[in-house]
Amino acid sequence: MPEDAVKFHQQDDDGRPGLADEPTVIERLLGHIDHQTTDLADTVWREPVEHYRSPERFQAELSKVMRRTPTPFCPSAALPRTGSYLARDAAMIPILAVRGADGQVRAFRNACRHRGAQVAEGHGCKAALACPYHGWTYGLDGRLRGIPHPDGFPGVDKAEHGLVPVGCFEANGIVFVTQDGEAKPDLDLIPDLIGEGWRFLGAGEQLIPANWKIVTEGVLEGYHIRSTHAETFFPRQYDNLNLVEAFGRGSRISYPYQNIERLRDAPPAERRTEPVMTQVYHLFPNAAVATFPTHRVLTIFEPLAIDRTVIVSYSLTRRPEGEEEQAAVRRGQDFVTKGTDEDRAMQSAVQRGLAANANSVFTFGLFEGAITRLHRNLAQVLGDRD
Ligand code: FES
Ligand SMILES: [Fe+2]
Repeated sequence: MPEDAVKFHQQDDDGRPGLADEPTVIERLLGHIDHQTTDLADTVWREPVEHYRSPERFQAELSKVMRRTPTPFCPSAALPRTGSYLARDAAMIPILAVRGADGQVRAFRNACRHRGAQVAEGHGCKAALACPYHGWTYGLDGRLRGIPHPDGFPGVDKAEHGLVPVGCFEANGIVFVTQDGEAKPDLDLIPDLIGEGWRFLGAGEQLIPANWKIVTEGVLEGYHIRSTHAETFFPRQYDNLNLVEAFGRGSRISYPYQNIERLRDAPPAERRTEPVMTQVYHLFPNAAVATFPTHRVLTIFEPLAIDRTVIVSYSLTRRPEGEEEQAAVRRGQDFVTKGTDEDRAMQSAVQRGLAANANSVFTFGLFEGAITRLHRNLAQVLGDRD
């Protein structure tokens, strides 16, 4: 595991991921339904509000945590063939990922070696990467191939002007980028959620006027289901009834649907989680994979500024391409979007509340243990890297 990984509530003794299997998850959730209970953290956590407002703290989160951690950049399925590329800002740095002729995905700082313009935007497929400003052209491996009117650049060695690479690694259907350093994700700690068989449906972006931690916190607890999602999720789910488990520095939060009841008498082999719950896998620090019956979404909570975040989401399905199936996927996506709009309103409200100076700490209760893990791990990594 990464040398600075922190484990809390690890479920087994040999350091393997501690995630329970599907029949066990269902059994434990049915137990919570019977007893009107939920998983509890070991402590209440008080996070200084200053940690959401301090520019120094924000810069440290970017430079010491996000840029030095293997962070999900996009699904492998978004880069299906030679020349497929995807460009976006990650931890406020323009980054470009490209699949080369050898099948390998490489990532680069997305800045031309002439005068720094981005050599690609959005996503697509190209044989080479030509900078739109003056036309310097790079191969899919990042090497500088061509300079228009090269006689204007005597003494410029093309071999020394390739795109600047960053650490890049594909694992379990996810392209990870480590901007500073070569750290690789620990495969034992990344469940295979969108690997073989998952088809890329598309990307989306939603701007939230709130700090990235406020936005990330929004998917890490089910304590707000009744209050925030009264007309959307609550009628089909449960309020404050979750499993919270640890893997590496991440957490898995299971949110059951009421149709879990139909599995009460089902034999273990038929106790499958996907149709009867959403599971959110938090990938420390600022990403998550969420499961739904029709599709899965890889989400990255990208800071644009201390008080602005863009939720970058990549949807995938393994349903066949038939019309009926696609309509079901769209219905599933629309339903989720209604709920996340409600989350967006609450996250914006928390950000506005920072200006009120009403709180010196935010208090995360025993139902919000996955958020406590996020803050504990942030503190640990920041402390280690001072
Ligand atoms: S900035 Fe890219 S070619 Fe000039
Ligand atoms: Fe929510």
